Amino acid sequence: MVIAFVNHKGGVGKTTTVAHTGYALAMNGLRVLVVDCDAQANLSAHFGIRSTDSLYSVFKNPTAPLPMINIPVHSFHTNSSTPNANGTLDVFPSHRSLENADSEFASLDGREYLLAEVIERAHLQDRYDAILLDCPPSLGLMTTNALTVARYAIIVMQTEFFALDGIAALYDKVNALKKRINKRLYIAGVLATMHDKRKALHKQILSAIQAEFHDTIFSSVIRSSVAFAESSAVGKTIFQYQPGSPAVRDYETFAHELIEKGILGAKI
Ligand SMILES: Nc1ncnc2c1ncn2[C@@H]1O[C@H](COP(=O)(O)OP(=O)(O)OP(=O)(O)O)[C@@H](O)[C@H]1O
Ligand SMILES: [Mg+2]
Repeated sequence: MVIAFVNHKGGVGKTTTVAHTGYALAMNGLRVLVVDCDAQANLSAHFGIRSTDSLYSVFKNPTAPLPMINIPVHSFHTNSSTPNANGTLDVFPSHRSLENADSEFASLDGREYLLAEVIERAHLQDRYDAILLDCPPSLGLMTTNALTVARYAIIVMQTEFFALDGIAALYDKVNALKKRINKRLYIAGVLATMHDKRKALHKQILSAIQAEFHDTIFSSVIRSSVAFAESSAVGKTIFQYQPGSPAVRDYETFAHELIEKGILGAKI
């Protein structure tokens, strides 16, 4: 199952969501691949990976081995140091060279299918239960490629001012793609992130988002916590670096919600 995490607004929590959801799903026994589709390579850095390979190098050289890197995952009980026997987490890294892709492939026939072809060629859908795509903050080539191959799109939204600005453009993009290229694409929902329930403004904005998207908003809400920035600074998720942080629970809950809603298959 391929899921694209999207919002062309920057800094809303897409990368943090892919890293932590991926880790939580692997802790639940799923075989997970997280794909860094962004030339900023933040997802790679989140796992302490500095790679010179990226989707760009694979697009350029389709027969090259894929540069996936395995991250050891510990069992669901966050204080356990026993590696989970079943769940696995692999990262498909990125590098700033991926910046070239937009201009270089702009007039290539079938440019929307570059990522789909990589996934198809290596049978990644058979090898993984969940393939999570971390999209860049733009509606350019890589987001188009992600939405072309994804079964589900999840819109990540910060409960801040202007959260809803630009969302119409994102829906237009998804609907146009659905009509033209990927009929099976479905918006699984909106995930609210960086929420501080002590702030009246955040509560108001969360209510506005809930009113706007009523049945397509996930009931899991990701709280605002400095633990995320602190952990990413040392190339780890909070599951690995600050397992005692209360924020750990939010992505566990979200991972369970994805399984409960049937978006991803349960493994345990
Ligand atoms: N729940 C949270 N609470 C507090 N800080 C967070 C939270 N989630 C993410 N952050 C921080 O906010 C910043 C932006 O997050 P992130 O990189 O995940 O967003 P993004 O949407 O992927 O950004 P971009 O659009 O640039 O790719 C990072 O510094 C991250 O550590
Ligand atoms: Mg990002």
